Amino acid sequence: MTTPTNPEHYALAMRDVTKTYGSGNAQVMALRHATLNIPHGHLVLILGPSGSGKSTFLTIAGGLQTPTSGKITIDGQDISTLSKHELDQLRLAHIGFVLQAHDLVPYLTVEEQFKLVDSVKPKGNLSKTQLNALLQELGVDQLKHTLPSNMSGGQQQRVALARALYTKPSLILADEPTSALDSSAVHTVGTLLQNIAHTQHTTIVVVTHDTRLASLADDVYHMQDGVLSYSLGQYHQ
Ligand SMILES: Nc1ncnc2c1ncn2[C@@H]1O[C@H](COP(=O)(O)OP(=O)(O)OP(=O)(O)O)[C@@H](O)[C@H]1O
Ligand SMILES: [Mg+2]
Repeated sequence: MTTPTNPEHYALAMRDVTKTYGSGNAQVMALRHATLNIPHGHLVLILGPSGSGKSTFLTIAGGLQTPTSGKITIDGQDISTLSKHELDQLRLAHIGFVLQAHDLVPYLTVEEQFKLVDSVKPKGNLSKTQLNALLQELGVDQLKHTLPSNMSGGQQQRVALARALYTKPSLILADEPTSALDSSAVHTVGTLLQNIAHTQHTTIVVVTHDTRLASLADDVYHMQDGVLSYSLGQYHQ
């Protein structure tokens, strides 16, 4: 079997993507010639230490930042050819983000966080029953009337993950979604993500320094000083 090299075959593909912040002496090359293919339905982990370029990679992959050079395709579509409106629509309909600061709205309860999503995207989301089952699986179903400030960091992370899954995206981009979780919660979250990827054909990309998810991932990459390298073998023996 030959491996396809055409970006059109992949949920997410990058070709020689570079991101430079600042200029002159203050210049930082946060992403260096990143090239990768992420197949549909894979759970992909990108592991790297603090400052290695993980958030830069993820925000560029989802079109929240533009690269300095290189090409990004989502489902075969070169995102640089999209207008701002088209990119917004693509994100709304197809991408679920879990950002590093998990960005729950501070003055809304858990239940209201989901109502807010409904007000922006009213159709195609999980049903009430499915949402309840998801919150239960993540162990946060008792928190429906709770504000983020009254939750632990790990609880906030799980609610943020549920919010990303709520819209049934075809691509999930998650930044450190497990950093505040204990090992048992990491296992629950990891198994849930693996299950969603494999049964619903959702593509899930997690950037993290947390190696505890590595054995569940289909592909593992390492990020070091902005350089991405494939390293699955290390974790699947
Ligand atoms: N907006 C910015 N302006 C200037 N430099 C930046 C900016 N964002 C990130 N950087 C720099 O780019 C490099 C990569 O940062 P990035 O946030 O992508 O790393 P990270 O792997 O996500 O780190 P962490 O694990 O701490 O979240 C770092 O050297 C960082 O200081
Ligand atoms: Mg980061």
